[in-house]
Amino acid sequence: MICLGIESTAHTFGCGIIDGKGRIYANVTDAYKTEKGGIHPTEAKLHHEDVKDKIVEEALKVANLKLEDIDLVSFSQGPGLAPCLLVGLKKAKELSKKANVPLVGVNHCCAHLEIGKLMTKAIDPILLYPSGANTQVIAYDGGKYRVFGETLDQGVGNFIDAFARYIGLGFPGGPKIEKLALDGKNYIELPYVVKGMDVSFSGLLTNLKQKYDSKKYSVEDLAFSLQETVFAMLVEVSERAMAHTGKDELVLGGGVACNKRLQQMCRIMCEERNAKFFVPPNEVLVDNGIQIAWLGILQKKEATKDYDKIDIKPYERTDDAEVKWR
Ligand code: ATP
Ligand code: FE2
Repeated sequence: MICLGIESTAHTFGCGIIDGKGRIYANVTDAYKTEKGGIHPTEAKLHHEDVKDKIVEEALKVANLKLEDIDLVSFSQGPGLAPCLLVGLKKAKELSKKANVPLVGVNHCCAHLEIGKLMTKAIDPILLYPSGANTQVIAYDGGKYRVFGETLDQGVGNFIDAFARYIGLGFPGGPKIEKLALDGKNYIELPYVVKGMDVSFSGLLTNLKQKYDSKKYSVEDLAFSLQETVFAMLVEVSERAMAHTGKDELVLGGGVACNKRLQQMCRIMCEERNAKFFVPPNEVLVDNGIQIAWLGILQKKEATKDYDKIDIKPYERTDDAEVKWR
């Protein structure tokens, strides 16, 4: 069985093609970027409309397949920006009708976890999922992917992007902050906000902006201290989730997980507690179509041609999704 998956939750429009054995045929994406300023939902939507046909064509070409070879179409149902999600839904419906195959909507967050499992061979991991919009520590328990800890306000990626924007860097800011941090020499104390199993970034953002405005600190030191502080927060809650659940595997997912320093800190924590640590390749850490296609395969029994029943779910949480495929 071959599934074509469409991703369009936020800045990225992606098309992935995978088969039931987990063999990847294509993973083509195009992300909306800005030189200055953050992501604008309407602009992101226009970007997706602009590239959607080209991306799907390109994916089929890379896969050396025709639409008739596809057995199933899946799309990212949520969580995400409604205008962007609608572009994905429309394209997925169109492809499903053209190919005369069923369609299934999948949860974007669960997709990060499932592709991580597929690509690393982890069996029952804790997922640390730090992305733009989301920051969650997730694990399977009692029929659902439960959220053991999460951000109380914004996602860590959006927080990093907001600070980057404030100091005049464009979107996405994460990679630029990572680069600056390499030249940081002094650790500047910042608010460390872990509340139980949850984290929070808004106070930290205000504090960083004030420190930047005071002109007393170099941007390199600020970037370095930002990373050391927030990644320590993420590692702390991930470790506690592992301790509580007794699970001994950690998998990363989400765009911020591309960060080498975060990976290093997670690796050290896992080594210290004799746990296994897995980092999937960058192309599936950031938003992509292949994880949507793979979860489509896992949820093939839920696929249908009853199109009126299929809609986007912009606010669907990780733990709303019924995990029927495990
Ligand atoms: P989701 O819909 O899953 O919440 P998302 O739409 O925000 O995800 P992702 O592609 O998962 O998209 O993540 C994008 C985020 O990752 C951006 O905030 C970006 O700054 C951040 N990011 C990317 N690379 C790095 C890096 N090297 N270091 C830190 N952050 C990074
Ligand atoms: Fe994502």
